Amino acid sequence: MSMPILITCKPDYEKILTRELVLQNVHLQTKSCGWILTQGEEQSPSKQTETPLTNLCFAYNILENPVSISATSVNSLTAKLLKIFLTHLGQTRVDEPWAFSFSSSDNEQLIQRTKSVKRCWIDKLRKKMSHVAKLSKEGIPHSSEFVEGFFVHFIDFNQAFVSFKARSAGQQRMQMDPRAPSRSYLKIEEAFKILRHEPQKGETVIDLGAAPGGWSYSALKRGATVTAIDNGPLKGSIKSHQNICHLKADALKYTYDPTKPADWLLCDVLEKPDIILDLLHKWLDKKWCRHFIVNLKVGRNDPILLLEKIRDPQKGILPYCKTLYVKQLYHDREEITLMGQMKE
Ligand SMILES: C[S@@+](CC[C@H](N)C(=O)[O-])C[C@H]1O[C@@H](n2cnc3c(N)ncnc32)[C@H](O)[C@@H]1O
Repeated sequence: MSMPILITCKPDYEKILTRELVLQNVHLQTKSCGWILTQGEEQSPSKQTETPLTNLCFAYNILENPVSISATSVNSLTAKLLKIFLTHLGQTRVDEPWAFSFSSSDNEQLIQRTKSVKRCWIDKLRKKMSHVAKLSKEGIPHSSEFVEGFFVHFIDFNQAFVSFKARSAGQQRMQMDPRAPSRSYLKIEEAFKILRHEPQKGETVIDLGAAPGGWSYSALKRGATVTAIDNGPLKGSIKSHQNICHLKADALKYTYDPTKPADWLLCDVLEKPDIILDLLHKWLDKKWCRHFIVNLKVGRNDPILLLEKIRDPQKGILPYCKTLYVKQLYHDREEITLMGQMKE
């Protein structure tokens, strides 16, 4: 029996996530705004492997074997959650830090409800088991493995799912830097977090489609040297930064002539995704970069067909990569982002 799982996603992307899951032979039981619940299915013994679900593009958090609870007030929801937690804990001695999270979809009322229940639950836990509460760590760690803990996802004012095993695909809301020239800055900051790697002091960065300059700003902030390519103007302090060279040129025709590969290719060019994928293919094939972060504007294109193209074992991007993440970031709109490191 494979167990049901609750998967959260950007609101309105439930259908696309469902299609992505079907490719991995995982089927929908029910869905609503920002989440889907999959079926637990009978499987033949030969197929009884856990679905790893590590390479989903549209998934945010994945909660294993969720149990639904409902109650009509903050106090009664808290009481039920505490009872479930304590029953699960039983006689287990807790002397290591453990993870917990309370989440919901991006609906202001639901966010406030979730915060109230979380506060009340932590208060009650502190009073009952201060030692266990002290070791709690908020958040689902970004990992390819499921971690044990206590994970609550509110799907409605009076209803939540509870799980003891979860994993996060790493998307997270970033904090805006008021000096950054554009809000695109949030995307690149989030991408560096997911990749767990970022430009280092003295590294070279080629930023295609750089204007007004949020991504270049983020690289400069880390001490990198940036070549920014865009016919549009850069804004703010980066215009006169000593470590940036702005080339007013077409990023699609730009030919890099390196003595050694650039440490980073950043690409946020406003173009059709197939054209950008071909551009990335060229950069990887010519070994012009070591790491890349490339944003695809999905627009009206079918994202599932794009994913298949990216992951194609022969013609895709995958064969070039030591690491490849393809994700819809928290800060992506109708976009997905490719983050990777080339094979040596
Ligand atoms: C979403 S914006 C980039 C935002 C930028 N990453 C930032 O952080 O501020 C897209 C950019 O792509 C640029 N662009 C579109 N086609 C281009 C091309 N063929 N060559 C260079 N830049 C291009 C546009 O001028 C625009 O500035």
